[in-house]
Amino acid sequence: MDIIKALNWRYATKKFDAKRKLSVKQIQTLEEILRLTPTSLGLQWMKFFVIKDQKIKDKLFAVSKRQWQVENCSHLIVFSIPIKTDNKMIDQFLALIQKVRWTGEVALQDRKERIKALLGRYKEANQIDSRLAQQVNIALWNLLTACAVLKIDTCPLGAIQPDMYDKILWIKKQWFKTVLACAVGYRAKDDGYAKVKKVRRPIEKIVEEI
Ligand SMILES: Cc1cc2nc3c(=O)[nH]c(=O)nc-3n(C[C@H](O)[C@H](O)[C@H](O)COP(=O)(O)O)c2cc1C
Repeated sequence: MDIIKALNWRYATKKFDAKRKLSVKQIQTLEEILRLTPTSLGLQWMKFFVIKDQKIKDKLFAVSKRQWQVENCSHLIVFSIPIKTDNKMIDQFLALIQKVRWTGEVALQDRKERIKALLGRYKEANQIDSRLAQQVNIALWNLLTACAVLKIDTCPLGAIQPDMYDKILWIKKQWFKTVLACAVGYRAKDDGYAKVKKVRRPIEKIVEEI
């Protein structure tokens, strides 16, 4: 697999083939890719809602600047972060580490202090949401790259109304708030964007070897 070839093949798909759906197995793979995304301190304070229900996608289309990708994609993945964070969530995380790795009390306590200190600094600077949103963006790019390798098309969607997404998906996601979304599926044969050349700044402008 030539990764550069795959990344050139990938583009922000504007028109999906509404008739071609991803299989259950493919969706499970994408879900596992999201789950394996690395996060700061390993906290994974995020949740992904994978929507295949056409009626829900139609409703979300209306609050996504009427971007057709939302309607004609196979599945729409909504990336969200917790509405609030608390010490209970840290304890749950530490309990999971202990269960999986049998980590000793001292090491766990040390980790707890480090997490609390970091979150305290973020809270003070009013940065919790932006820091968590950063983590969600890493999950997005993990998904986009993996999909490129798997020959699954994607369109990241930042131009949406997150608060309206929250209202529409309220029952399922009452403890979370939307950051962004990503449409997945297969490109339509007549999506003109598939053929246009990629626009990227020259390598020496954005990368410097020191
Ligand atoms: C965070 C983020 C949000 C984006 N939101 C949208 C969007 O709402 N609609 C859209 O069509 N493309 C969206 N894009 C896609 C970018 O416009 C696109 O990746 C960029 O122009 C480069 O083109 P390419 O991905 O086709 O190579 C978004 C990309 C990112 C990273």
